[in-house]
Amino acid sequence: MASACVLIFLLAAFFHQGECALLLNSYFSDHMVLQRAPQQAVLWGTADTEGDIITAKVTGQGSDSTPVTTKVTQGQWKVKLPAQNAGGPYIVNVHSHDGDVTFSDVLFGDVWLCSGQSNMGVKMNQIINASEEIKTAQSFPQVRFTRVNFTQSDTPQSSVFYNIPWTTPNNRVFEYFSSVCFLFGEYLHPHVNHPIGLVLSYWGGTLVEAWSPPQAIGQCQHRSKRGPRGDSILWNAMINPLLSTTLYGAIWYQGESNSYHYDRYSCQIIAMLKEWRKQFHQQSLQQTSANFPFGYVQLAPNAPGDAVGLFPEERWAQTANYGYSPNPALPNTFMAVTMDLPDYDSPSGSIHPRYKQDVAKRLVLGALNQAYGHSDVIFQGPFPTAINANGDPHELTIEYDHGKTELDVRSNGFEVCCSVLNTTHCDDVLDTWVDAPISRTSGSLVTISTSGCGSRHVVGMRYEWRTSPCDLKLCSLYGKTSGLPAPPYITRSISEHNSAIIG
Ligand SMILES: *[C@@H]1O[C@H](CO)[C@@H](O)[C@H](O)[C@H]1NC(C)=O
Ligand SMILES: *[C@@H]1O[C@H](CO)[C@@H](O)[C@H](O)[C@H]1NC(C)=O
Ligand SMILES: *[C@@H]1O[C@H](CO)[C@@H](O)[C@H](O)[C@H]1NC(C)=O
Repeated sequence: MASACVLIFLLAAFFHQGECALLLNSYFSDHMVLQRAPQQAVLWGTADTEGDIITAKVTGQGSDSTPVTTKVTQGQWKVKLPAQNAGGPYIVNVHSHDGDVTFSDVLFGDVWLCSGQSNMGVKMNQIINASEEIKTAQSFPQVRFTRVNFTQSDTPQSSVFYNIPWTTPNNRVFEYFSSVCFLFGEYLHPHVNHPIGLVLSYWGGTLVEAWSPPQAIGQCQHRSKRGPRGDSILWNAMINPLLSTTLYGAIWYQGESNSYHYDRYSCQIIAMLKEWRKQFHQQSLQQTSANFPFGYVQLAPNAPGDAVGLFPEERWAQTANYGYSPNPALPNTFMAVTMDLPDYDSPSGSIHPRYKQDVAKRLVLGALNQAYGHSDVIFQGPFPTAINANGDPHELTIEYDHGKTELDVRSNGFEVCCSVLNTTHCDDVLDTWVDAPISRTSGSLVTISTSGCGSRHVVGMRYEWRTSPCDLKLCSLYGKTSGLPAPPYITRSISEHNSAIIG
């Protein structure tokens, strides 16, 4: 069976070149975390002997798994390990006529992919209280990580280039690892009580189009105007090679670079997520869920000041224009609201706030509810469900969460749109937004004064619609029990004569 390769091997040995080789994808290394049961971890790689049998097994903890086998086809092979309960350390061994590869100190747990742009890259040593956080992380050797190197390609790649092979937080490279990614794992760990594997694949200053496969680019009408630098180049080099990995879910911190074309973002993020889910599911032999949980971080504040800028529209687009997550366009997703976490003095620029602990905590709440079935965990701030004109031309009352959430009011963040026309639609060009201070609150109701419109008609309402809407954790509305901020909101359609039911 191995004759062709053995022959080549002998000749090659004679000429001192090449050898028969069984190779696993460079994704795999000692100390890795593989996806636990009920999903099955997938191993894959290459081998020289066509048709040869690859045998893989897991040993350790007093029990050997039944070996699984697969055949080498066109130099490639892929195999599902038996479903393995969380824990370890285990030894994973892969064997064929071409060789033998063994990995030790392997844990089984949940594997999360962390992707996006520079805010996903903000390092452990760059955040608030960095040295304490790095020290605290040492108590979490079951939270392990790996990082894909920066690389781009015009064509889909199958090999991954690793910058950091799988390791634990006691490695000296830890201080350069993503803070949001690691803290997400660290905060999640005590709740799930099993190992967490974090796969970081991000690149600063990048567009969503770069991370989207061609199929997802095709689903939206627009193409990047910036030439070849754009579409699919990071998908090809930094995501495509990971598709066979069994993942539990993904977190995503991206959007700043797309704010100049916020009107395109909603379509593209929906399409990207659909394709990620479909292709991870297919390539992992159906082991990664076809609807895997996807958490994302809302754009943080940037420069101080009152400028509306492009971020409010981009934040809205991040939610596929619903304002909240999950929603029908982005099912099984969760969002960490961050517009109330400004850090104007951040040494790496106000675009990179150092409050990554809060970002990770809010993501974990979403993960617990959406990805781990803890339906009692509140992970969303209050959201408007009705706007009532009260029959009073000078006020509007906004109801949150169908009256179920008691509000904690910390500042004024409302504006209304005033129109000289008797219409129910706010036109951003013709009409004017004015402050609408809170005049009273009760339970889950907020009443705002629309007197700023004078004799004009009130035709829209928006909430915290600024690039940097408030001081640290001092936006206008929070859930009283959850302490979570109400996300930004906008409606460009209000009738002062009728009550509007929304949401
Ligand atoms: C930083 O550490 C101080 C002192 O322990 C603590 O009060 C503060 O909450 C920490 N900040 C963050 C963002 O964790
Ligand atoms: C990562 O990529 C850079 C630039 O392509 C390269 O110089 C570096 O050696 C790579 N690092 C590793 C660990 O492969
Ligand atoms: C505006 O239009 C509504 C409905 O079309 C009407 O009932 C109302 O009287 C109008 N108001 C003014 C000030 O013209």
